[in-house]
Amino acid sequence: MGLAPPTLREILLVCVLLTGVYLVFVPETRERFFAVPLPLPSPVSPSPLEPESEPFNGSTRQIYNTRMSWETSQVPQTKIIAHVPGWSIIDRLYIYKGVVFIVSDEPHKIPQLSAIYSKGVDIEVGEEAELARLPDDSDIRIISTVEARELFGSGAQILDGVTYFVNDPPQFVRHYYHWAAELWFGFWRAYSSLDPSIPASGNTSLPAPRRMLFTRLDAFRWRDYSTMNQWVVRSSFPDLTMEFLDDWDDRAKMQTPFVFERVVLADRSAAMPALNYQRYQRTAAPAFALPGSAHWWLAIRNNVVRFAGLEPEVGAGTRKRPVITYISRQAWGRRMLVPADHEKLVRELRKLEVVYGYEVNVVVPEKMTRLEQLQLAARTTILMGVHGNGLTSLLWMKPNARSTVIEFFYPGGFAHDYEYTTRALGMTHYGFWDSDAFTSPDIPLPAYPEGFQGNSIPLDGEAVAALCIHRLRLEGEVDDG
Ligand SMILES: *[C@@H]1O[C@H](CO)[C@@H](O)[C@H](O)[C@H]1NC(C)=O
Ligand SMILES: *[C@@H]1O[C@H](CO)[C@@H](O)[C@H](O)[C@H]1NC(C)=O
Repeated sequence: MGLAPPTLREILLVCVLLTGVYLVFVPETRERFFAVPLPLPSPVSPSPLEPESEPFNGSTRQIYNTRMSWETSQVPQTKIIAHVPGWSIIDRLYIYKGVVFIVSDEPHKIPQLSAIYSKGVDIEVGEEAELARLPDDSDIRIISTVEARELFGSGAQILDGVTYFVNDPPQFVRHYYHWAAELWFGFWRAYSSLDPSIPASGNTSLPAPRRMLFTRLDAFRWRDYSTMNQWVVRSSFPDLTMEFLDDWDDRAKMQTPFVFERVVLADRSAAMPALNYQRYQRTAAPAFALPGSAHWWLAIRNNVVRFAGLEPEVGAGTRKRPVITYISRQAWGRRMLVPADHEKLVRELRKLEVVYGYEVNVVVPEKMTRLEQLQLAARTTILMGVHGNGLTSLLWMKPNARSTVIEFFYPGGFAHDYEYTTRALGMTHYGFWDSDAFTSPDIPLPAYPEGFQGNSIPLDGEAVAALCIHRLRLEGEVDDG
């Protein structure tokens, strides 16, 4: 008898085998593409749930580790690893029926709950609204190990690795600036406090977050109108899993406790009473009180730049040909320069191109691809534009002695959004009121005078060009690249 044609069963078997072989080799494939190390237990703190676990080596078989069972012994206690208002790194955080539980026999050592968690509702102005955001027993509780045993029974389902846990309403999430320069920014600033010596290469010992969990947001509500949020996520943490309100509700309805191995918990409302928040109105600001490397953001920025097809070194150095990028809003319809002032600015910048040999780009982001936007930002030495979302691109610049953001405001107007973010990256920010420039520490208080959002913002293009020369010649003498 000859060989019979393979049966469906045999074909399926081969498929299963091939998938198995592939999975075994996946870690290697990932390593080559992923600059942030794989989720190995970090040297800072070993995996709190499974200190004994060993990497799979092909010859051991085990039950999937889905459950942390304490049987008759004490319920493992929650540990606060790092905390500032609105940003908390917590090991063994429990959730049960939609409520967050901190299990501790030393409740006096736990920070005030309102600085960790809130009701996660929209932020409105006023004392009444502030009080309405404070958490109560139906949101978060501290319980003793004895109470935990009564409530949870003998174990909890494990959510392993690091979870970015977001307890914010949709209010600010659907906007590139708030997503990338506040949420993503604050998360990494808080989390990277566990590796406070990240070098300029951006290499870190921290495992990438496994998942991002939103307790108050539907899946379709996290993307922004400029469709940049997804580019930031997929380029910095390509295998991050995102979970939303319905996933949160699933677990709540199961009436079973779950335990997070480690969360980095973000809560905008909880961040608001912090001094740093009060000073700068930036939700990420309190996180800067934690330890951190001067190069903290490069772990993210370099991955985004590589994703855009460039080397992370792009934009570095102070002796290379500088790149000036003016992000024009003149076609946007809101917050625009006086047309003649815009034209004069463009002429003055073109002069710099001719006289000094700088590269000058006048761009309209909506007309560029997302990749082009990231590439140009990564190469840019001086980024300028009217106060607005386009300046979020500053996140991808390479901080050095001459990298600068110049922001145009209606005279008398000011907001910290891009000013604070620029400084938080170690770069220099200048605000412009027509021909007057100002920079930290001599900056005005936030103000939104009439005309702030209008289309008649005056600007002296000559003064802006003069500042560019000043930044690129006088302060560019030191080569720190
Ligand atoms: C950063 O890590 C990668 C591997 O992930 C390694 O090839 C590279 O040499 C490291 N860079 C530095 C400056 O340590
Ligand atoms: C695999 O791991 C098991 C348990 O840790 C160990 O006993 C065994 O020697 C290992 N096998 C190989 C091939 O490394």
